[in-house]
Amino acid sequence: MPLHTVLAADLNPIQTNAWLCAGVAPRPIAFASTVDEAGVRNLAPFSFFNAFGSNPPMIAFAPNRRGRDGSVKHTYLNAVAVKEFVIATVSHAMVQQMNVASAEYGDGVDEFVKSGFTPMPARFVKAALVAESPLQMECRLHQVVELGTGPGSGLMILGEVLCFHVQEHLLKGDLPDPALLDHVGRNGGAFYTRAFGEALFQVAKPAGQPIGWEAVPEVLKASHILSANDLGRMANTAVLPDLAAAEGRSGDPASAEGLEQAIHLALGREDLAEAWRLAGLRLRS
Ligand SMILES: Cc1cc2nc3c(=O)[nH]c(=O)nc-3n(C[C@H](O)[C@H](O)[C@H](O)COP(=O)(O)O)c2cc1C
Repeated sequence: MPLHTVLAADLNPIQTNAWLCAGVAPRPIAFASTVDEAGVRNLAPFSFFNAFGSNPPMIAFAPNRRGRDGSVKHTYLNAVAVKEFVIATVSHAMVQQMNVASAEYGDGVDEFVKSGFTPMPARFVKAALVAESPLQMECRLHQVVELGTGPGSGLMILGEVLCFHVQEHLLKGDLPDPALLDHVGRNGGAFYTRAFGEALFQVAKPAGQPIGWEAVPEVLKASHILSANDLGRMANTAVLPDLAAAEGRSGDPASAEGLEQAIHLALGREDLAEAWRLAGLRLRS
């Protein structure tokens, strides 16, 4: 496929931000709750956000200088001044109100009030929890990393997580259930992603040191029915089965095409053993 290439050096900060948001997506959203030194609450979303270490538990998000004029945001000022904050995750049910909280309100405006979210006292930090959020982290400022000084430049805030709070009904055993959190992520432009229902799927971890793509039979790779994901799933097999020993069963498809359809369906059910049995038959067909 032909590629369209854009040099970063040819872009202004606003264009660069748009390319970054297209290239790093979907991004998790940190709903950052802070207070200023007078105790006035502030709440704003930041999708330049991730976790970076587990020992100690470390997250980072980036309330950056505005691309327009290089000015800094309340969240940055509060986090640096008070050295504490709450990072709340955002569920689909919260999206529209979160969007209101992202507006550029003036100094001293409490976005909990503007957006209608419910503040709750946190356990270790002055900033408030967001009652509606499925999962939240109380954080202590670890470090600020300045990634330039001009408009749009990064102000990365690293925070050590002091505790996690999850709404009890979202637990499955000891951990939050990814199928219940209903988190949203941010894509490019005004697009968001919802991690729920069919959009959420599981991928089996690599089976030790899997056999790899090159061990998947060429006849399967030439198939118009098997997808790259089907073949990739077969490449993630611990030990290549003895294909010559594959036993036929009554009801097995007779044609090559039928067998490939059956392999595809078996992989869809995560029945890898059956997919390989059928692959053995396909090789003999
Ligand atoms: C979903 C979403 C993600 C955002 N992510 C970022 C981000 O990563 N960095 C940033 O500087 N601004 C981001 N913004 C914009 C800020 O939320 C916005 O500038 C806000 O007014 C900052 O508020 P504050 O001045 O109260 O801190 C995002 C907005 C939305 C809606």
